[in-house]
Amino acid sequence: MEPGFWHDKWQQQQIGFHQSDINPFLVRHWHSLNLAKGSKVFVPLCGKSMDMEFLAAQGHEVLGCELSVLAVEQFFEAASAQAQVVRHGEHVHHSAKGIELVQGDFFTLSHDLVAQCQGFYDRAALIAWPAEMRIDYAKKLAELIPSGARGLLVTLDYPQEALSGPPFAVSPDWVETFLGPWFEVTPLECQDVLAENPRFIKKAVPWLSEAAFKLVRR
Ligand SMILES: C[S@@+](CC[C@H](N)C(=O)[O-])C[C@H]1O[C@@H](n2cnc3c(N)ncnc32)[C@H](O)[C@@H]1O
Repeated sequence: MEPGFWHDKWQQQQIGFHQSDINPFLVRHWHSLNLAKGSKVFVPLCGKSMDMEFLAAQGHEVLGCELSVLAVEQFFEAASAQAQVVRHGEHVHHSAKGIELVQGDFFTLSHDLVAQCQGFYDRAALIAWPAEMRIDYAKKLAELIPSGARGLLVTLDYPQEALSGPPFAVSPDWVETFLGPWFEVTPLECQDVLAENPRFIKKAVPWLSEAAFKLVRR
């Protein structure tokens, strides 16, 4: 989606993707990445996700990237933290409590910024892109993530014709085919989550599955 779409969503607080709890797949599978305490974790398209507080609580330094300044401000407000704000060119870095959120466009992040990250976490970032933009996102992610870094990817899949995204449907086959050249992909878990998603039930979407994958940058 274009930046204007997301700025409007944040302006109107139409943020149905935001979870009021930590993502259960993150809680169940993060430990399987075996990342050391103190290692740095990149969170692309982070929104104001509380998952970043979970990652910080595991002893990680967190580096998020988010287009919307409202999201960034609301994140630190919810964490009762006063962020230090520093501008670097077109990106504005907000930091507090071991969490640095870079406000600006993911596509113009420099490789150097992410080079120290040994881990990454993608929930509702890959699936935020329609199919025709998803490859560009995946390419940029692969360009940013250093070799050997380990990450957790959480996706949604459903019959795309039943609903217009976002979120967009991403199948396990898509993950294997399009991320496989850059990342070793290990499926971890796949669950039927239709019952917990009233928007999908209302639109008579026949099935909805959420899946977690371990990714290791080749
Ligand atoms: C579906 S939301 C997911 C947010 C978060 N990962 C979560 O789980 O709540 C996608 C987020 O990506 C942000 N976004 C979209 N395009 C972006 C871009 N080019 N650079 C940085 N952030 C972007 C949007 O503002 C939005 O907050």
